[in-house]
Amino acid sequence: MSKITNICCIGAGYVGGPTMAVIAAKCPHIKVTIVDLNVARIAAWNDENLDNLPVYEPGLDKIVGEARGRNLFFTTEVEKAIDEAQMIFISVNTPTKTYGLGKGKAADLKYIELCARQIAAVAKDDKIVVEKSTLPVRTAEAVRSILDNTGNGVKFQILSNPEFLAEGTAMEDLLAPDRVLIGGDTDPEGVAAIDALVEVYANWIPKERILTTNVWSSELSKLTANAFLAQRVSSINAMSELCEKTGADVSEVARAIGMDSRIGPKFLKASVGFGGSCFQKDILNLVYIAKSYGLDEVADYWEQVIIMNDHQKRRFASNMVKTLYNTVSGKKLAFLGWAFKKDTNDTRESAAIYVADDLLYEQAGIAVYDPKVEEEQILADLNYLGTRSKEENAKGVTTFSDPYDACKDAHAIAVLTEWDEFKGYDWQRIYDNMKKPAFVFDGRNVLDGEYLKSIGFVFQTIGK
Ligand code: UDX
Ligand code: UDX
Repeated sequence: MSKITNICCIGAGYVGGPTMAVIAAKCPHIKVTIVDLNVARIAAWNDENLDNLPVYEPGLDKIVGEARGRNLFFTTEVEKAIDEAQMIFISVNTPTKTYGLGKGKAADLKYIELCARQIAAVAKDDKIVVEKSTLPVRTAEAVRSILDNTGNGVKFQILSNPEFLAEGTAMEDLLAPDRVLIGGDTDPEGVAAIDALVEVYANWIPKERILTTNVWSSELSKLTANAFLAQRVSSINAMSELCEKTGADVSEVARAIGMDSRIGPKFLKASVGFGGSCFQKDILNLVYIAKSYGLDEVADYWEQVIIMNDHQKRRFASNMVKTLYNTVSGKKLAFLGWAFKKDTNDTRESAAIYVADDLLYEQAGIAVYDPKVEEEQILADLNYLGTRSKEENAKGVTTFSDPYDACKDAHAIAVLTEWDEFKGYDWQRIYDNMKKPAFVFDGRNVLDGEYLKSIGFVFQTIGK
């Protein structure tokens, strides 16, 4: 394979968009074209005003601004881009199946299959196809079968190159990743394809950080990494409940264990529960795969991480109800934060959705303020759950663009996302305008509880 000068990426989402923008910025000699079926999304990526990009990531606007129109292009002309590219990344979403066999657990691969069929139909010369989406182990086999059986006789190499970026820090993670993982076949053609992709990353990443493996190891490593990370959060959350009963402080426990270099300090923040598009989906997928091989103990082990996370969200909501004299019916409850973590506008699987759902069930009125999430998205998240009608959700939830308005006349505030700006608010002013006693339930351990108590708030946080 000659040197790569033309790349196409199918899927202009949270992964495809930022990843390709960085490749384009770091490899000016490579033309990078990102395609998507969603016309509105492509239009937003092409918006002259960089504040309107469909994905919010600190630093992304600058990089897109630099490369767009030079060697970075966003378009809906999928076939043309596939035809011209030597290397095609598949970065479409792989949601949990909502129907049929494996419903609620297995990954739905219909978009991946569609991509493979489209690539096969269009390709007139040899191509390297790179799986960027997180996929169940052995998906490459299915992709290969489709490519080889429906193609025009051209040769395809299939690589697995999972993305480890975390939202909110995508740019740092892409510019200086801990490692880049590339899995491919071990025969000479496979090795040549791996080398071609290594050369792309080597434009800005030291070679010793670029790891190559066989395809299956690469696919499984991605699921394993997410399972281990999520498991740390569920582990510390399990301890948080015990801390609340015993008088220990989970932050102190986390600090004490984190100084053990074998455990390490990261990913030990107790919270209202992890969210995001990946953790739950990938673990469910791992559980499904283990079960399908008859490995029930392995499946049950990982499923417990999800069970603990669901429990953590549920118990946060029920603790609010209990503390508010066992009734929140008709009360205004303010939510600070809706995104699944700070510095992103992504709300997929956010704990806030589930806490809101439980509180709406108790007939509370919910007032949401999030610096990056719009009302339309909040209602769409609740409607997607399907617990109640769209009208009922719209009646139960009001969105505010000013946090002080959201908290005015509220009986309680719940902090669901750890946005930095919450710390800097005028909490005295918030207190003065709330119903008394005024409660704060900090689901993220971010506010200064002692200070809030000195103002007069009744303050509760996770794990204390
Ligand atoms: C990514 C990964 O791909 C997924 O495997 C991982 O587990 C989560 O992150 P993400 O980029 O967050 O997904 O998904 P999303 O933001 O939904 O973007 C996917 C894009 O692909 C969408 O814009 C969608 O319109 C597009 N798409 C989907 C296509 O262009 N063609 C299709 O056939 C399907
Ligand atoms: C994750 C992985 O980190 C990333 O490598 C992978 O590519 C995609 O999935 P992301 O979902 O963007 O990234 O966010 P992450 O920072 O991992 O946080 C996931 C969730 O766990 C968030 O809701 C976060 O608030 C929560 N979390 C994280 C905690 O509750 N406590 C912690 O200590 C860390």
